Amino acid sequence: MMEISVTFLLTGCLIQGVFCGFSISLPKRVEALQGSCVFIPCTFDIDQQYVTELTDDSKRIWYKDGNSPTVVFDSSSPNTASLKGEIFGTPTEKNCTTRFDNVLQRDKGSYYFRVEGSKNLKYSYTNKPEYKVEIVVIDSPPKPTVSLFKDQQKVKKVKEVKEVKEVTGKLCESALLD
Ligand SMILES: *[C@@H]1O[C@H](CO)[C@@H](O)[C@H](O)[C@H]1NC(C)=O
Repeated sequence: MMEISVTFLLTGCLIQGVFCGFSISLPKRVEALQGSCVFIPCTFDIDQQYVTELTDDSKRIWYKDGNSPTVVFDSSSPNTASLKGEIFGTPTEKNCTTRFDNVLQRDKGSYYFRVEGSKNLKYSYTNKPEYKVEIVVIDSPPKPTVSLFKDQQKVKKVKEVKEVKEVTGKLCESALLD
């Protein structure tokens, strides 16, 4: 019985054509207010056979998924790709925790992570749906539920947008302090 399930596990890995040791843990979905930042807590693991190829010079890359996936962030040149932000920890800590700044409506979509070490370690975490993170961009804060006169409403709205932006900004920062 034992033997059968072990064989099945091994075959399962082979059939999928993947190296079993690769996995990633990140949220399925994160929300950002238009123009604000988003924080993606993330850790990854690699197949044991590539351990020596993962160094602190290894690249940590984010792709936006789609018909032709594009690089949106590359740790080796964090200011050149389309999403600005910061990736935390080090590659050898297997940390892929990332903050993206100034997230706009056009950035909404599905994202996946890729690690590129020396030699043959080049791996995109795409083979399971839960390996991708969906960035949802919210246009404006929820409408006030209290009904007010017109000009009062205007004042309240402006104030709320400002407050929510401040809170979200702080969230991204304080999430890092934990
Ligand atoms: C990854 O880095 C973030 C930010 O520095 C930190 O909060 C988190 O604890 C790290 N995760 C691991 C598993 O080291």
